[in-house]
This record gives sequence, C-alpha cells and structure tokens, in this order.
Amino acid sequence: MKIIKSQSFNVKQFRKMVMGVDVRVPVHKNRPARFINFDNAASTPALKPVYDKLKDYLKWYSGVHRGTGHKSILSSQRFDKCHEDIARFVKADPERDTAIIVKNTTEAINKLSYRLNLSPTDVVVSTMMEHHSNDLPWRRAGRIDYAGLDSEGRLDLQDLSRKLRFWYPRVRLLTVCGASNVTGHINNIGHLAALAHEYGARFMLDAAQYAPHQALDMKPHGHPEHIDYLAFSGHKIYAPFGAGVLVGPRDTFLKGAPEYAGGGTVALVGSSQVKWGGVPDRDEAGSPNLIGALALSETLKILDSIGMEKIAAYEEQLTEYALRLLKGVPGLTVYGSLPRVGVVSFNMRDVNHSLLGAILAYEGGIGIRTGCFCAQPYVRHLLGQEEPANLDEYARLPVWEMPGLARISLGAYNTLAEIEKLAELLHRIAARKKEYQREYVLDLGGAGYIPRSGLTPVPLHLSLDL
Ligand SMILES: Cc1ncc(COP(=O)(O)O)c(C=O)c1O
Repeated sequence: MKIIKSQSFNVKQFRKMVMGVDVRVPVHKNRPARFINFDNAASTPALKPVYDKLKDYLKWYSGVHRGTGHKSILSSQRFDKCHEDIARFVKADPERDTAIIVKNTTEAINKLSYRLNLSPTDVVVSTMMEHHSNDLPWRRAGRIDYAGLDSEGRLDLQDLSRKLRFWYPRVRLLTVCGASNVTGHINNIGHLAALAHEYGARFMLDAAQYAPHQALDMKPHGHPEHIDYLAFSGHKIYAPFGAGVLVGPRDTFLKGAPEYAGGGTVALVGSSQVKWGGVPDRDEAGSPNLIGALALSETLKILDSIGMEKIAAYEEQLTEYALRLLKGVPGLTVYGSLPRVGVVSFNMRDVNHSLLGAILAYEGGIGIRTGCFCAQPYVRHLLGQEEPANLDEYARLPVWEMPGLARISLGAYNTLAEIEKLAELLHRIAARKKEYQREYVLDLGGAGYIPRSGLTPVPLHLSLDL
C-alpha cells in the first residue's frame, strides 16, 4: 500500500492499513455491530502492509546467527538491521547506544533492573503514577522511593526534586512513564531527564504508552535532556508479534553477566569460564524472535513515514472530542488532566466499572478496559482511597468488587464517529441505570457481568478453534 505524505493525517487511509477494523461482533438483542476498539492501551491491532511483508518473508525465514545457508545469512542480516531501524525511530546514538530486542516493556524494565547491578545502598526514584511493570522490578533491585502526585494525578515536581535531593548522591536512576496508562497524562520528559542528571542519576523512560502516540527523541548523550534508557512494546504500537525493545548505552550492557545465560550470549565458553558476547547479543539469550523484530521495525518505518507529529495532532483532536462528550454525560467523573494522550479513565455514578464495561461490550460492541490497569497505587490515589491494611482480604474479592475505573484508550485509526457512538451509549446507560442493573447479572464462573437473557450467538468467522 502506498503511503502518501500529506499535510495532515489521513485517518481513512490509515484505517485501510489497520487489520480488523471492519470485524462485526455479537450485540445483545440486536444485529452484529462493527467492533469499536477503545482498548489500544492494552494492545493495538496489526498493520496489513506489515503483515503482508511478513507473510512474504516467511519463505526466507531461518535461524538467526546460527547457520551458513543463504536463508540464515539473510535472516541474520535482517535481524541485525531491525535493531538499527528501531534505534533510529527513537533517535538513539548509533555509536553509543544499543537496542536490545525483548518481549515487551515488562521484560525490558526487568532486564534493566538486573543489568544496572544496583547495590542495596543504591536508590531508584520512581513515581506513584507508574504501571506495576515500572515499579515492581525496582523493588527487588535496591531501594526505591516514589515521588507523589497532586489530586489530578499529575506528578508533584517539587516532591520529586525533594526526593532526588534527599537521596543524592545515592540515587542512581529516575524512572518515569512518558504517558500514564491510567490518565494518559504526559510527563514533561525533558524536564525530568534534566532533573535526574542534575542529581547525578540516569533517566529511564517507560515509553509503553508514549511511543504509540508521540514522537520520541532520546537526544544526544551529554544533552541535559538526554534519555539514558527507554523501553516500549511492539504490541502497543501496531506490531503485535511478540517483540519489544530496551534502548540504552552500550557500556551498561557490556558490563557483567546477563540475567539469562545460554546460546547466543557468549563469545567463548570453557569448562569453568565464560567470555560474554558483545551487545546486544549478550542480552538476547536463545534464538531470537525474528518475525516480531521485523514486524516492529517495519511498523515503525510506516509510522515514521506518516509522521508521529501528525499522528499526535490527530489524536489530540480525538482526545479533546472524547473529553468534551464524556464530560456531558450525567454522573460521569473523568480522571486526569492535560496534556494527555488518548487514554481517558472515568466512572459513572452508581454503576460498577465492570458492569459499565460489560454494557458497552454487549450493547454497543465497544471494547474498553475496566479495573486498575496494573497501576493499583495510582488508581487508589485517583479514587482517594487508602491502601488496604491487609492485602489478603482484598485479594479474595472478585475483580468486579475491587475499586476501579473504566478506561477508553484511543488509537490513530479511531474516529470521531466512534466516539459519538460511545457517548450516545453512555448517555443511554446514565438514563436507564436501573434497567441495566436488572438486565445484567454476575456470571460467577468468572465472566463478570453478562446479560441475564444471554447473548444471541452469531457465526464467528474464525479459522482457529476456540
Ligand atoms: C505505562 C506502561 N508501562 C509498562 C507496561 C507493560 O507493558 P507490557 O505488558 O507490554 O510489558 C504497560 C502496559 O500496559 C504500560 O501501560
């Protein structure tokens, strides 16, 4: 498919590339409806031109860095090149940085938390707005402290400075999300990086929710706003084939042993000694995910050719529209504040978040996510709730009884018309809460809320057995 560079983003053209936008799904007491995917923060669909290239490439597919045949040579070259393409997308330094291909952001952050080789006296400063994947790995790695938030869920920059000052010179890293997966709030990355460097720390950006929506620029080494480490997931940026990336200075990864040892990580192995390989090989243990890496690099090329700035400008319009319409729904509380990517969490008065998600799915064919989105401390903060004294008691609750929010998350292929459909249905739910509450029952088998009268089965055009 030809990609036309236009002055503004052409959503119709982009939609043609996105797989599955026309899929119809069962709707309660109605004809199947075209599925509206407002759950892009979880995972985005794939791009057809990339899928076509992968299908074509599969006849050349072979082992990477392990064979002498043509196919293996080709596959090894393509795999190596993926690293360059990905590094270019984030404007990493090709001489000084390395891009390590991993599964996802979670693996990337776990890897870094291991590879920084922190001592028990080292401190990592993070924030209360992080996804669990940018929190839990650091808890094991050294001492962690969290910068606080204001009532709208924004980072308290004074508190952050205080924490960095307090822990100086022990603070080794400041790690923050570029955009929140709960409120979509965009952090001031340049300012945060400069702050970290002022206190002698390195700066790590969790770009899982930022990379799909905004242009990334790691800035040159030595620049006060340089991003030292950066991670994101392919499946959140239109490349759902199992690859993600960790980018960072080569010197970090040329030191010490990787957390996974084995084939591909070594130069020499004696009976009791090992000489580790170079970068990124040392950190890509075992046979790599070539198809995932190809999908990611080809997808990034397409996004680059469209222009991330154009995507960001289009998504800003979508987000503004969504906020405007959501704020007009009676009883709806919207959380978070600008600037934000198209991730918007809300609650409807007297309607459980899980029930709200079910109604949107069953009545409108609209996919959202509900709950705490792997960011429980942040969601509790937004809801003004204390941390429970006893997590065991909490853990016994089914998800629909846990505190939570409903979240829509937009992609560049979503449209204003889709947002209108969502708002229409939300208005209907707000007006008929009691009816819906009678109509929906809890499936104690674990499916959450389902319509009491069941769902009309429709043929699902799936080639896979369910
Ligand atoms: C901000 C943020 N960081 C990290 C992650 C973890 O990403 P993954 O599940 O791809 O490892 C997510 C996932 O939603 C996220 O939103």
